[in-house]
Amino acid sequence: GTPVSVRADHPHLLAALREELDVTSAKDGCSPSGQCGCCTVMIDGKVQISCTYSVEKVAGRSVTTLEGVDADERQRFADAFASCGGLQCGFCIPGIVMRAKAQIDKKGADLQRDDMARHLGAHLCRCTGYVKVLDAIEAVAKGTPVDPHLPGGVGTSGAKYEAAELTLGDRGYVDDIRVPGMLHAALHLTAHVRADVKRIDTSAALAAPGVVAVYTAPDIPGQQYVGIIYKDWPVFIGEGQRTSYAGDVLAIVVADTKQHARAAAALIDVDYDVLRPITDAVAAITDPEVAVYGTKGNVLSVSAYQRGDTDAALASSAHVVHEVFQTQRIEHAFLEPESTLAVPQPDGTLHVYSGGQGVWDDRDQIAAILGVGNDTVTVELVSNGGAFGGKEDMSNQAQTALAAWLLQRPVKCTLSRDESFRMHAKRHPIRMEYEAGCDEQGRLTGLRVRAIGDSGAYESVGMKVLERMAGHASGPYRIANIDVRAVAARTNNPVCGAFRGFGANQAQFAMEGVMDRLAAKVGIDGWTMRKRNVIHPGEV
Ligand code: FES
Repeated sequence: GTPVSVRADHPHLLAALREELDVTSAKDGCSPSGQCGCCTVMIDGKVQISCTYSVEKVAGRSVTTLEGVDADERQRFADAFASCGGLQCGFCIPGIVMRAKAQIDKKGADLQRDDMARHLGAHLCRCTGYVKVLDAIEAVAKGTPVDPHLPGGVGTSGAKYEAAELTLGDRGYVDDIRVPGMLHAALHLTAHVRADVKRIDTSAALAAPGVVAVYTAPDIPGQQYVGIIYKDWPVFIGEGQRTSYAGDVLAIVVADTKQHARAAAALIDVDYDVLRPITDAVAAITDPEVAVYGTKGNVLSVSAYQRGDTDAALASSAHVVHEVFQTQRIEHAFLEPESTLAVPQPDGTLHVYSGGQGVWDDRDQIAAILGVGNDTVTVELVSNGGAFGGKEDMSNQAQTALAAWLLQRPVKCTLSRDESFRMHAKRHPIRMEYEAGCDEQGRLTGLRVRAIGDSGAYESVGMKVLERMAGHASGPYRIANIDVRAVAARTNNPVCGAFRGFGANQAQFAMEGVMDRLAAKVGIDGWTMRKRNVIHPGEV
């Protein structure tokens, strides 16, 4: 509803909206790929994905974002999503609301649920799922009365905290925050997962339009390595050092705009001696070459325990299953890519806005990098657009804080989806060899487990995940004789770390597979097999 003019050089409409006009209800989950739907707006009354829409094409046309929707209509959507439980982190919801609005404008109370579900095919929601979202849209379309009250206390149900603000895109995530004088940063990631870095030439980046500074490893005043448990994850890989995975950072570029920072980061010229990447976790354990720079070997941890006589138990079992179960690496795919804003304070401290999952860990690690006391750094949690464990490790917090600290100016850095995929930890792929026996009635007699998890390059919490996998190896079943050994291997693959379930999921996949196979051998159904073996309170 307001005539505006914007620069012509934005890569897409979403960038013009967010970066120049500070219209932030449209979220950036994957620009410019148009895959997530978070940036959906209306152009001349039709829904469009704004990160695939050029600025030239929008000239002279009417763009409606959630900010421009009629106040009563906004309230109807906010109330419906709040009372139906149609959101969790909320990052995907403003885009979904725009899509729903367009459909309701067209069809009103006749909007069919199936039809709306089909239109939601253009949107990804990682945390809520789509059923409650459809409930909320249906309530708006049909004008069903809703009651968005907050919970009254423990044991009562009610709307999610900040549900209305989240639905309308008004509750800012880190990338939505703007502060006066804010600069923008972009990272330069390695081109090779395992390579010696001979030379890093930042001169072209420094001379690029709008660039204020470029920082590399020698600019770190304190510690170079971070990590939640062990400090083996480098903030930057410097000249004379070696890269170990695709998310390794070589430099951070700070500029007046995000676009200038990104363009300049691409100009950094690096000489590499490329080395053979070590990508097979099983082979890595016996590989004489060390996969990860600065470490002594490729075995990160061994978690082992045993009880009883497993050999004898298996030898005397009526039925035995011996199989290998392999799970895959899994990406958390939270909808909000990582973002950090660091703001130097007049009292000489640094205030960092982080969407991470451990603000105290972030604070301690940032302070160590800057070489200052913990009380010089404050990390404020900004509720994020999904994490699921994938934001426990720091992503760009350290580099962003460093740039702001050295420049004594506010600096924000937001990862692209590609960078996010490359940098943060995943769920471990685990190879699990299970050998299990039972008697004629299907009662478990013994279990041997040999597991190797691909922990990727850096420690993160990899050894704890394999420890948990080992601890849950037998599932919820009573087994007198057990022998378990789980190894976390270092490779040059993506770092693996925390992810909902934390290693137990993989073990259940294998153990439940074993239960089904044994049940078939005994000739009983899976339910009976489980009922005969499930552990009861007081049993070991
Ligand atoms: Fe949909 Fe979080 S609520 S991605």
